[in-house]
Amino acid sequence: MKDCACVILAAGEGTRMKSARPKVLHTVLGRPMIAHVVDAASRLKASPVIVVTGHGRDEVEALLSSRYGRKVTTVLQKEQKGTAHAVMQAMSALKNHKGDVFILYGDVPLIDPADLKKMRNGRKKKAAAVAFLTMTLPEPGSYGRVIRDDDGRVHSIVEAKDCTSAQRRIREVNSGIYCIEADFLRKNLKNIGRTNKKKEFYLTDLVEIAARTEGVIAIEADAHNLEGINDRVQLALLEQRAQERLNAGLMRKGVTIRNPASVFIEPDVKISRDVEIMQSVHLSGTTKIKSGAIVGAGCAITDSVIGRNVEIKPYSVIEEAVVEDDAVVGPFARLRPGTLLKKGSKVGNYVELKKTVLGEGSKANHLSYLGDGVIGRGVNVGAGTIFCNYDGFSKHRTVLEDEVFIGSDSQIVAPVTVGKGSYVGTGTTLTRDVPPGSVALSRVRQVNREGFARLLKNQLASSKKKKK
Ligand code: UD1
Ligand code: CA
Repeated sequence: MKDCACVILAAGEGTRMKSARPKVLHTVLGRPMIAHVVDAASRLKASPVIVVTGHGRDEVEALLSSRYGRKVTTVLQKEQKGTAHAVMQAMSALKNHKGDVFILYGDVPLIDPADLKKMRNGRKKKAAAVAFLTMTLPEPGSYGRVIRDDDGRVHSIVEAKDCTSAQRRIREVNSGIYCIEADFLRKNLKNIGRTNKKKEFYLTDLVEIAARTEGVIAIEADAHNLEGINDRVQLALLEQRAQERLNAGLMRKGVTIRNPASVFIEPDVKISRDVEIMQSVHLSGTTKIKSGAIVGAGCAITDSVIGRNVEIKPYSVIEEAVVEDDAVVGPFARLRPGTLLKKGSKVGNYVELKKTVLGEGSKANHLSYLGDGVIGRGVNVGAGTIFCNYDGFSKHRTVLEDEVFIGSDSQIVAPVTVGKGSYVGTGTTLTRDVPPGSVALSRVRQVNREGFARLLKNQLASSKKKKK
């Protein structure tokens, strides 16, 4: 949208969160509340975007600058003297902005850009100076009431604390979200006084001024998108609602979600059609899941790519990894950052990989640690294999070339390269490279002393008696 600026109020203390962290930095679906709001403004291409900070400003400003750089301007409201006072702090940053100014809140994270567009279009169409979003609530509580004339036109907004008992019964309330014509804002903001119960500068006074002068229009919107977060109970409710909405969107696009109330999926996660998500799955960051994949119960996947028709069996934990098409992972597998499972490979239970490539069709099915490795195609890594990659000071690399077989319970003391097609016998400790096509064994020869078992047991039993 052209010529629209945005002021986001975020100076309040948020005492009811009972938190050391500023309220607007608490996350909804993994994203700080304030970032949801800035993102909504960005989707309208609003510029400038000005955030009014106060309580916890250092942390809030740090988050904003790391996330948005110079796209977001912050201004300080030293003392919180009311919503109009907060907007006043932003006026110098709005300089000679022409057009619209949206007023949003750092603690109203589910604001829908479509509602903002509706507000702006409504304002333009009616040639009114102010448009604001209203909602009708069964229990209007502490919200400002929308007061209308006998002919139904908006007259003013009266805060609950300042209401007569008749006014308090009005169920149409102010969301606090406005679209205001910039010149009107500049001209009238400075005339707002503080003759009210809270002795604050109320932004709502602008509605009354506009009603008398350049016109105001109220636009009803879905209350679900306009609710603010004051405590952690509301945080949980809104997050749940946001998750329901996100899940519904995914399901409509062809993703199956079993028991959707149990999953946690962040908004940047991309999931293709015919993916199946089982219960209690946690998907976060920039994770991407391609079509036909199945994510089993209780899996947690962060910043990873899961290929077509991959099966992730229950309770696997995957972080910054890439799993190519047709691979099978888990149950109880752990893929740490830098893992690449190539097409059709298999990682089974209690196997951990870190910075390791597992080649096409290769398998590591049981109880292994494979760190800093490059594993070729058609390799079988036996149960209990350990890549001993760390000597206490440095990390070293293990290379298993194509078609290698590693017998169970082997240790590979890196750096070691096992040449193509080699066979490493069970229980081997490799400390040197293995040339291609070799059999490598490091076991001691087995001894059987027939009849010795009874002797040994008697000896052990009598030495135990003596000790007593
Ligand atoms: C405000 C509206 C009310 C509306 C309600 C919707 C006014 C006078 N009233 O009331 O009509 O129904 O929002 O939630 O505007 N803030 C600052 N600096 C300040 C004061 C507030 O940044 O000096 C921020 C707060 O952090 C908060 C938001 O503005 O996020 C709302 O402030 P608050 O004082 O809670 O207003 P309400 O009483 O909720
Ligand atoms: Ca052993």
